[in-house]
Amino acid sequence: MKVTIDNITLEVEPGTTIMQAARMIGPEVAPPAMCYYEPLKGSGGKCRACLVKVTAGSEKDPRPMPKLVPACITAVQDGMIVENTVNEDVLETRKGIVEFLLLNHPLDCPVCDQAGECHLQDFSFEHGVSSTRTVEERNTFEPTDLGPNIQLNMNRCILCYRCVYTADQITDGRVHGVMHRGDHAEISTYIEKAIDNDFSGNVIDVCPVGALTDKTYRFKSRVWFSKPVDAHCECEKCSGKATIWYKGEEVIRVTGRKNMWGEVTDFICNGCRFDKKKTADWAIEGPTNVSRHSVISANKYGANLIKPAFPVLQAARDYKQINDDRDRSFLGIQPALPKSKKK
Ligand code: SF4
Ligand code: FES
Repeated sequence: MKVTIDNITLEVEPGTTIMQAARMIGPEVAPPAMCYYEPLKGSGGKCRACLVKVTAGSEKDPRPMPKLVPACITAVQDGMIVENTVNEDVLETRKGIVEFLLLNHPLDCPVCDQAGECHLQDFSFEHGVSSTRTVEERNTFEPTDLGPNIQLNMNRCILCYRCVYTADQITDGRVHGVMHRGDHAEISTYIEKAIDNDFSGNVIDVCPVGALTDKTYRFKSRVWFSKPVDAHCECEKCSGKATIWYKGEEVIRVTGRKNMWGEVTDFICNGCRFDKKKTADWAIEGPTNVSRHSVISANKYGANLIKPAFPVLQAARDYKQINDDRDRSFLGIQPALPKSKKK
């Protein structure tokens, strides 16, 4: 099937979603995703971060779709034309989606372990506005221990369901889920039961915000002060492929390896994640390639950073070029010459 996204045409298999097709083109046109997680079956369709405009439904029926559609759960039709970063309505709507996701989310990034690798932080930075219109109090919850290794900060949860799908699909028995409905909805275990099985720690990696955090790592460091390294070990339960995070000589945490979309494809077991905190436990492969636009890249791996085009386009649109031909000779400064006249 032929699909055109932001004026780029490609051919895809039937059944491909707009999100998958856009990701085939690359990060410049891929819509943001807060709840969609490719390795988890059925994920997506919860957060609306990925809304796009379909300006032609298909070659057979080229009428535009009347409303913006979620790219992660909308299948491509032959001849479909989609607009993402080039559509004003989409960009305007995303501002509203960010505002909506932040309605109850606290602005506690300075003390949140997820800061620096938080998808909501990235999403707000790229698509949000810097002010808020709400005066209502946010929903607040006490932090809850979900067993010995995981802490839930429900205040920060955006109800994306990723952790629920993870527990459903890669652990023996899910004991947590979204309880209640509407603005009473919350992630919880049934009567505070611990999330306790060999792969439970993966809910930490899939959580896009800081709602589920690793208790063995909490408050140990800011992520941009630590150095991620790819490493593997012999493990009977999982692939043993992980990223280990150093602060100086000390391994302060172990996570699954994430791809360019921030998704773990090889889930790791709790033994690797929580118990192997010595360099001797691992065979080191080399520095992790940080390919997403995180502050880890910004501060330490500048050359690898792929800057999203959106902020640059927005800056070009919103800020006027400064005409600096003013006469400043009284300051002893010559007016800047236009480029073409420079020698
Ligand atoms: S705890 Fe995290 S992964 Fe689970 S629903 Fe909330 S935001 Fe999503
Ligand atoms: S990423 Fe598509 S709805 Fe959440």
